[in-house]
Amino acid sequence: MKIIKASAPGKVFFTGEHAVVHDKLGLATAIGLRTSCEIKEIGTDTPLLKNIGPMIRLREVELNQIFEAVEKAVEEKNFLVFKEMLANDKNVCVKYLIGYMMNKHRINFDSVQIINSSELRKGMSGSASIFSSVVHALSEYYGVNLGKKEISDIAYRGDIIAHGGTPSGIDNSTTTFGGYVKFRKSVGVKQLDIRNKYHIVIGDTLKPASTAEMVTLVREKVNANDKAVLSALSSIDSISQEAVDILKLGDLKTLGKLMDNNQEQLRILGVSSSELENLISVAKRAGALGAKLSGGGGGGCMVALCEDAMDQKKVAEAIKAAGGEPFITDIGAEGVRIEANE
Ligand code: PMV
Repeated sequence: MKIIKASAPGKVFFTGEHAVVHDKLGLATAIGLRTSCEIKEIGTDTPLLKNIGPMIRLREVELNQIFEAVEKAVEEKNFLVFKEMLANDKNVCVKYLIGYMMNKHRINFDSVQIINSSELRKGMSGSASIFSSVVHALSEYYGVNLGKKEISDIAYRGDIIAHGGTPSGIDNSTTTFGGYVKFRKSVGVKQLDIRNKYHIVIGDTLKPASTAEMVTLVREKVNANDKAVLSALSSIDSISQEAVDILKLGDLKTLGKLMDNNQEQLRILGVSSSELENLISVAKRAGALGAKLSGGGGGGCMVALCEDAMDQKKVAEAIKAAGGEPFITDIGAEGVRIEANE
């Protein structure tokens, strides 16, 4: 019985979430927490999927229908369709990606069981990470031989649904390529050679949030020519440009300040929340050099930069005492990879 397992990292932003959707610079890193996709040959001819919720049967007709509906909506830029699709079926993105692989890469999809799992929380790019894992596992299982650029581009298509139409592309790029990345939509991704060791703590507010809703909120303000929002986006671009140089230099204090400045701009965009603010201020009081929300915001996760492992522990304890869930994890982690091929 053939088994393939792929895994991909989550990510956090040093700077640039939301701004990257509007062609500003973003700076992110892959983290030590991962998702995985295991594809196993089974004795029946009904393919099975365990993604969100219980194990379900997959039907080829449905996968083709989803594939066609998404392709049409993407072409027509009919973003509202994605919201409805997600509301009706939490597994629609993964079903679409399987449909995509069937249609574009001629995978003969049958007699397999796909089991996805995740260590990631809201705000750690869980969706892009799962998509990178699924696409890599499918391509390996069916011998399609996709390179990282292709895996990232296909994972991006999953995020078109998950992010309500206009993902920047930084999530799929970071979860696929891994490491430290700088990203601008019109330029693409560039991996950075970072040698310094950084200590961060991620704090989960445990408040659910929708990236698609937050992205839509900011997009509508941009479309309405909201001056404060446009100026905040430009400031984030400058902050990210400085942060890239500072990250290379290893100047922790300045990097922390830049993260704080970035958080001020995110407040102006309207994507912070009282839960995020609470964890950000307890992290700062416990000694973090800088702290900000990470990802879509509205809830989900924040990230704090610490001087060393001792401060990291203090900040994690403070986040826990304030009702959040802290994660101490490596950064600069490896991108999507095959874990098992039997
Ligand atoms: O919430 P996450 O981890 O999926 O991150 C979203 C990042 C945004 O900049 C808000 C959207 C995007 O497509 O870049």
